[in-house]
Amino acid sequence: MKIVTALDLHPAARQLLESLGELIGPEGIEGHLGEADALLAPLTFRVDEALLEQTPRLRVVASAAVGYDNVAVDACHRRGIIVTNTPDVLTDATADLTMALLLATVRRLPQAERSLRAGDFEGWGFWDYLGGDVTGATLGILGMGRIGQAVARRARAFGMRIQYTNRSPVAADVERELGARYVPWETLLTSSDILSLHAPASAETRHLLTREALARMRPGSYLINTARGTLIDEAALVEALQNGPLAGAGLDVYEREPAVEPGLLELDNVVMLPHIGSATRNTREGMAMLAARNIHAVLTGAEPLTPV
Ligand code: GLV
Repeated sequence: MKIVTALDLHPAARQLLESLGELIGPEGIEGHLGEADALLAPLTFRVDEALLEQTPRLRVVASAAVGYDNVAVDACHRRGIIVTNTPDVLTDATADLTMALLLATVRRLPQAERSLRAGDFEGWGFWDYLGGDVTGATLGILGMGRIGQAVARRARAFGMRIQYTNRSPVAADVERELGARYVPWETLLTSSDILSLHAPASAETRHLLTREALARMRPGSYLINTARGTLIDEAALVEALQNGPLAGAGLDVYEREPAVEPGLLELDNVVMLPHIGSATRNTREGMAMLAARNIHAVLTGAEPLTPV
C-alpha cells in the first residue's frame, strides 16, 4: 500500500500510516501520485480534476480540515474515491478563537497594544481607547452547525442576545439550550450588532456579503469571519469599514489566501489573523490523527470515520 501525504505529520499519525505500507511526503510527492492508494491533504492542497487524472489507484482523500472546498468532492465520488474531513476535533479551538477575535475587534485590543508599544500610553485616560460593547449586544450567527453552536454557547456566557440563520432551524431543545432565535438572513444582516460567519465555502455562499448586503448592516456593527474568505466581497468590505456602516471587522480568513486585500491592511478598524482558527497543538494533532485514522479505516476495509 502507498500513502502519500501533502502534510507534515506528527509521529503518531506517521506511525499509524506506516503500519499500512509505504508513507511518502510531504517532500517529493509529485512522482508518487500514480501509485498512491491514499492521499492526506491540508486545506491549501487542491484536489481537482487535473490532480485526479494522475491518481488512478486512489481510494481515499483524507482532508485534514473541516472545510473541504479545496477538494472536488463530486469528481472524487464519480471515481469511487472516498473523501473524509475532520469535524468535531476542531470545534472548540475554532469557537475559542472566534470569541478571542470578536473581543479583540470590539474592544480594539490590537490597536491599544500597538499604541502602548509605540510609547503612546501616557497614563490612564478617561476617554482613551474606547471600544464597543459585547455584553448585551445582539450576536448574529450565520451557520448554526457545530462551530456556530459552540460560539453561541460561549457568547451566552457574555450576556449576548443570540439570533441565527441556518439552512433550517436547529432542534427546539438546542435552541433553548443556546438561548438562540432563528431569523431569516435579511433580519440577521440588518439587526445584528455583531455578525459572525460559520458557513462553508460554496457557490451558494460566495459573496453572501456583497457590497449591497454590507451596506444594509447595522450602523456601528461588527463583522467577524473565521469561516472562509469567499463569503465576503473583500473589496466591498474595505468600503464598508471606511465609510460605514461597519465599526470594525475581525478576520481570520481571506478571499484569496494567502493574499490579503491591500485596502484592509491600511485600515485601523480591522483585526486580521493568519487563518489560525484551529491552531492549538492538541487540535492540530487531533486533526492529523483523524485524517490518518480515516485512511487506516478505508485501506483496511472498514467504514471511514468521518466521510464527506
Ligand atoms: C480550517 O479552516 C478548516 O476548515 O479546518
